[in-house]
Amino acid sequence: MSVKRILVVGSANIDFLMTTPYVPSEGETVISEGAYTFVPGGKGANTAVAAARLGAEAVFCARVGDDAYGDRLINIYRENGIDLRYIKTDRLEQTGLSVVMLEKGGANRIIVYPGANRRINDNDIENAFYCYPDAVITQFEIGEAAVIQTARVANTEGVPLIIDAGPARRDFPLAKLEQVEILSPNENETEILTGIRPTTLDDCLRASMALMNAVDIKYVVLKLGARGCYIYDGKYCDIISPYDVQPVDTTAAGDAFTAALTLEYLRTGDIITAARFANAVGALTVTKVGAISSLPTRKEVEQFIIDSIS
Ligand code: RIB
Repeated sequence: MSVKRILVVGSANIDFLMTTPYVPSEGETVISEGAYTFVPGGKGANTAVAAARLGAEAVFCARVGDDAYGDRLINIYRENGIDLRYIKTDRLEQTGLSVVMLEKGGANRIIVYPGANRRINDNDIENAFYCYPDAVITQFEIGEAAVIQTARVANTEGVPLIIDAGPARRDFPLAKLEQVEILSPNENETEILTGIRPTTLDDCLRASMALMNAVDIKYVVLKLGARGCYIYDGKYCDIISPYDVQPVDTTAAGDAFTAALTLEYLRTGDIITAARFANAVGALTVTKVGAISSLPTRKEVEQFIIDSIS
């Protein structure tokens, strides 16, 4: 089977990670347990590295700042075999930074300073498509104009467009995305985009239909965390059961899921098979701390699936 080339147009961040027994409420100070670290992250970078570790040729279109974090991130991408040709070092903005508050049990809350990520421009994106990708993935962590330009070029060039809807915004002009192969929001993002929390199967269906009314989408894949994922193709729906794992950090699980979903969909042409594989990748990702540091290789995923069956 030929190796699939996936272009990711997305964010590159350094994550300031701190563990906390719980997230403080207004006016409250909480003492963190454990050390703090600066680790590589960013929804785009996590997705690109996840795709590479799973066996794709991953091409990353991004911007980092002209600073030590930018250099460090580029080295990490190089070590992971990412095609670096479309990563620019921006002279005006700093490298993006995320503050990740990690609670006991693995839940996280994240604040992002986008920095250089918001300087990805139309030319950067147009140039990146010269890599002739089999699919392009983007998220909403770069500027709105960059997401729309990615969609425009993907549609003009006939490249399947996969959108991971994080972080979602109620007023994002979804209709401007024209044609989307797969739209994959998590539970919060679904609620922000549609006003419907995907709690019951009926809610999942209503939310998926609302998304399909807003933009031309082939598959909606709702990421439901510990409940697995929900697929809707405009006619049929399916729930794909989760893997049972003990989560320590959910950061980057959604990014890894989308990378895996895209790659397996390209390889097999079957969204259900792809979603099963993506569930395994998401599950493994939550068992380790950090973003890029928690992303599994294909070998690890295959072993995990075998172990789960036996
Ligand atoms: O999806 C997880 C990512 O969101 C983190 O790595 C952080 O950088 C934020 O972008």
